[in-house]
Amino acid sequence: MLSQTKGFEAIIFAMYRSQINHTIKDAIKFFESRNFPLPPFAYWTISDWKKEKRSCQEIFTARLGWDVTDFGSGDFEKTGRIIFTLRNGKKGSSEYPKPYAQKLMYLKEEQKSAIHYHRIKMEDAINVGGGIIIYRFWKQDRNAHLSGAKLTVSVDGCKVTLKAGQRLSLAPGESVCTVPGMYHQFYAKKGSGPVMSMEVSGVCDDENDNFWLEKASRFPEIIEDEPRQFYLCSEYNKLFGFWRIKKKE
Ligand SMILES: [Fe+2]
Repeated sequence: MLSQTKGFEAIIFAMYRSQINHTIKDAIKFFESRNFPLPPFAYWTISDWKKEKRSCQEIFTARLGWDVTDFGSGDFEKTGRIIFTLRNGKKGSSEYPKPYAQKLMYLKEEQKSAIHYHRIKMEDAINVGGGIIIYRFWKQDRNAHLSGAKLTVSVDGCKVTLKAGQRLSLAPGESVCTVPGMYHQFYAKKGSGPVMSMEVSGVCDDENDNFWLEKASRFPEIIEDEPRQFYLCSEYNKLFGFWRIKKKE
């Protein structure tokens, strides 16, 4: 039976802090090169976070900010994702009830997401500049594995029928909608250059609404080989103390 990460008895590999620091600096340069301005907290130093933490509980609760992961693969260049969450809500929270989310992604050539589906979240992926996004979709079979059945997706409001796993190309300006229950994977096409991708979706609950085809972890284990330069959205508990974040929710 398919389960979330907790259900897998598997070795989960780690990322190095130096790799995360380098990746975020590289992503900032990429977004700047695409003339997409990031909010101030994308650049906050460790001391900035400590100074600002009392006034920005929404960032912690909604898990806004940097999100770099290798999905537990141990091979970040092959299976990984670089995300900056601009806005999000918290399901069930009266204080942060936004029912929508917006994420910016830096898709590198052939750096694939782990194949997954969501039970609740519906998401639109939009190519907002750079190369070509390749999207692949599968329906689920009765055992929650990949089905070989054809499927239909909405590409900018037009129905497109695809074979299972067929590669759908999205040029700059194009978008596709992923509905709940549909397995999907995406990345920048080899040779086309990196892509700035935007995800517009319902509220994102990464702890509870990612279901993987194969063993995976949504957030990475980290080996501290150099000082942290940025906080990942999965690390805010280290800034505050986990109990305080829970208390505020
Ligand atoms: Fe997804």
